[in-house]
Amino acid sequence: MDKFVVDGPVKLNGTIQAGGSKNCALPVVFAALLAEGKHKLRNVPRLADMEFCQRILVHFGCPVDQSFKNNFACDWTIDATNVTTSEAPYDYVRKMRASFFCLGPLMARTGRARVSLPGGCAIGARPIDLHLMALEKLGATIEQKSGYVEARHTNGLKGAHIVFPVVSVGATENAIMAATLAKGTTILENAAAEPEVAGLIHALRSMGAQIKGEGTSRVEIQGVDSLKPMDFTIPPDRIEVATYLFGAQLTGGDVTIEGANPADLELPLQLLEDSGATVERSPNKIRVIGSDVIKPVDITTKPYPGFPTDLQAQWMTLMTQASGNCTITEKIFENRFMHVPELARMGAHLKINGSSVSVKGEPGKLHGAPVMATDLRASASLVLAGLVAEGRTEVKRIYHLDRGYEAMEQKLRTLGAKVERETE
Ligand code: UD1
Repeated sequence: MDKFVVDGPVKLNGTIQAGGSKNCALPVVFAALLAEGKHKLRNVPRLADMEFCQRILVHFGCPVDQSFKNNFACDWTIDATNVTTSEAPYDYVRKMRASFFCLGPLMARTGRARVSLPGGCAIGARPIDLHLMALEKLGATIEQKSGYVEARHTNGLKGAHIVFPVVSVGATENAIMAATLAKGTTILENAAAEPEVAGLIHALRSMGAQIKGEGTSRVEIQGVDSLKPMDFTIPPDRIEVATYLFGAQLTGGDVTIEGANPADLELPLQLLEDSGATVERSPNKIRVIGSDVIKPVDITTKPYPGFPTDLQAQWMTLMTQASGNCTITEKIFENRFMHVPELARMGAHLKINGSSVSVKGEPGKLHGAPVMATDLRASASLVLAGLVAEGRTEVKRIYHLDRGYEAMEQKLRTLGAKVERETE
C-alpha cells in the first residue's frame, strides 16, 4: 500500500494547473448512458474513481476510449450505442459509492435498472432514500431486495413536482438525468445548486436536454423524446483548487492555479481573505499570497453556496496555524471528523463537541508523525499538515487521495514541497 512521506516545513510557491472536477465527471460519464452513439468528454481527471467508472461503463456494454493529453487530464470517448445489461453489481458499487448515480440514467434508457445498495461509508450512513423518492415521483416502481435496488418503468417516466426535504447533490443529479427523458415537465425544489450539478446540466444540455435553473435551488426539466451524444469539457475541480490555495495561506507561500474558476469558490476565497491572505481573482486563474499571521475564522459547512463539507478538514489544518481559537461545525455529514485524532497526533489542539470542533490555533506547533485517514478529504488535510509540521510526516493509505487528487505529489512538488510516494 502506498504512503506519502512529507518533509516539512516548506512554503508552497509557484503555478499549477487545475484538474477536471471529479464530482462533475462522475455523474457526467453516467449521463452518457442516456443517448445512443459516441460521446466525447474532455478534461476527464486521471483518478482511481474515473477508472472505476470506466470499468462499470464497459460492464454495461459501453466501451471507453481514452486519449491522454498530458500526464494528467485525458479525453474520453464513450460508445453508448448499446447498453447490454441493466445491472450494476455489488463489487462495482462497493468500490465507488458514486456508481449509484447510474440508477436514474440506466432506468431512463432501458426501462429497468438493478443497482447494488451502496451501504454506509467512513463519513456517515449516506442513505439513498431521496434518490428513490425522486425516481418514484417520476413514475418508477422501486423494489429493494437482496441488497439491490431495482427501478423500472413500464409506460415511460412522467414529469413531476419534486420537493427535496434535504439538499442532496446525488439525488438531484439522479433525478435530473432521469427527468430528461420523462414526458412533460419536472420541477425540482430545494435542489442542489453545487457547481458540479450545474456542470452536469451543461453536459445534458449539449445532448439536447431542456433544463433551466442550474446553480439555483429550483431546476426545471422539460422532457424530450431522445438525446444525442455529448461533446463536453469537464470544468475545473473547485475542491482540488481550494486545497492547494489553503496550502498557500497555511505555509505563507504564493500559489497560482491556472484554469480555476473563482466564481465556484466565492465563500472559501472570502474566508481566506478574512484569515489574512491576499486573493487575486481572474476569470481563469486564482492566486493566493499567504499572510505572516493567520487569523482564526469560524466555518459551518452548508450546501452551496455555503462552505463545502469537502473543504472542512483542510480548513481545520489551516486553523491549527491561526493566532487564536475558532470553531468548525459540520452540518452535512454526521461522522466527518476522522482527521481530528490524526491532527492531534501531530500536535494540534482540537476538541470535538458534537458536530463542532474547537480549534486552538498555535502557529508552528505541529510536528511530523505517522498518520492515516479513512476518507479522501481527511487525507488531504493530513498532507497539508505535513507541509507545515516540523520533521517527517508519513500519510498512510493514500489510495483515498488517489481517488480524488490527480497526481497530488507531482503538483505539490511543482510548488516546492518535499513529498515522495513510497510503497510499504
Ligand atoms: C456529494 C459529493 C461529496 C460531497 C457531498 C456533499 C459526489 C460524487 N460526491 O455526495 O463529495 O461531500 O455531495 O456536498 O458528488 N442524504 C439523505 N438521503 C439521500 C441522499 C443524501 O439523507 O438519499 C443526506 C446525506 O446523508 C447527507 C446530505 O444528504 O447528510 C448530503 O448528501 P449528498 O449531497 O447526497 O451527498 P452525495 O451526493 O453522496
